[in-house]
Amino acid sequence: MKIYKNYDLSKLNTFGVSANAKFFVEIENEVDLKELFDAPEFLNSQKLFLGGGSNVLFTKDFDGIVVLNKLKGIKILKEDSETVTIRSMGGEMWHDLVTFVVGRGLWGIENLSLIPGTVGAAPMQNIGAYGVELKDVLENVEAFDIGTGEKKIFNRKECEFGYRDSVFKGKFKGKYFITAITLILSKIPKPNLSYKILSEFLEKPARNASHSDAGGNKIEIKSSKDISDAISAIRKSKLPDPKKLGNAGSFFKNVFVEPAEFKKLQKLFPEIPYFEEENEKNGSKASVLIKIPAGWLIEQCGWKGKRLGNVGVHEKQALVLVNYGGARGEEVMALANKIIADVKEKFDLELTPEVNLIR
Ligand code: EPU
Repeated sequence: MKIYKNYDLSKLNTFGVSANAKFFVEIENEVDLKELFDAPEFLNSQKLFLGGGSNVLFTKDFDGIVVLNKLKGIKILKEDSETVTIRSMGGEMWHDLVTFVVGRGLWGIENLSLIPGTVGAAPMQNIGAYGVELKDVLENVEAFDIGTGEKKIFNRKECEFGYRDSVFKGKFKGKYFITAITLILSKIPKPNLSYKILSEFLEKPARNASHSDAGGNKIEIKSSKDISDAISAIRKSKLPDPKKLGNAGSFFKNVFVEPAEFKKLQKLFPEIPYFEEENEKNGSKASVLIKIPAGWLIEQCGWKGKRLGNVGVHEKQALVLVNYGGARGEEVMALANKIIADVKEKFDLELTPEVNLIR
């Protein structure tokens, strides 16, 4: 295990901003992990666990140790007539896991295709897209307690998943290093077409040049791979490829308001898009909240496609901030703060960042 000093992180974050870590280490097995956290020189230093670096923004140099998860391996644990239980190590790329299971005809995470980042980072923010969230299929999370050196297994309930949220991002932030996750997937077809953009795409694969039937023929879903391919095509058409244009996916969270507050907003802005969502946080009785797409709010403030120096708002999805090259984290933050202020002024709503801001 080699510990690097003053390590350049610009290639380890998909925003592509430059920042240095005081110390940097790659973890390839769990023995290294124990050794690292037993080392007295790191006991009191700040720690940051990094996977694909696809959901972080470094706003300055990191004055601590950055630990990159490189734990590899995907294994089928057990199988019955209806389900397959799969364990993946945290350093695998999330989409490689999707490819692995979709290739075996399993259902459950095909809607989460092409999400950048690693498996270990997925539970942190309960990754979600196109009507599916990680929590829908997750059995448990294995994590290393950096305080005690013990291994702990969190069942789904103990992860306290919410919208883009979990205990690993909240009360246990920085306390656990996620080593592996276990998922229960279905052998029985369970297509989730609840997301309108997906069902419309399958009905009419418009703008999809690779389909000769782009005139409006239906794509018949025969396998989870058919959905995975559709999701990949949708994502590619809307979301910038971080290899070509620095970004960290959605920069902000969507906004949730109480139905009464939403009614007032709707009077002022009758065309405001919204989705009703069940709110089951803290195990208490489910209530309905209204989700307002932050992308729409930002677009209404005139920001979509705008550029300020090295940074900008993506032209096809206003929720995504981009680095045109050479941006520092502070520049991205300055743009984000202008957007937050404008949305506050126009709608009296607070946007909160979805990316992990490293300050
Ligand atoms: N919209 C606009 N203008 C825009 C973008 C969106 O008006 O520029 C409105 C439209 O009404 C659209 C609605 O927002 O119908 C929803 O847009 P979209 O389907 O693109 O989804 P989103 O709510 O903006 C969320 C996730 C994405 C995920 C998609 C698809 C968050 C913060 N983001 O975006 O996740 O891929 O749904 O399920 O919840 C990510 O987390 O990095 C990410 C990309």
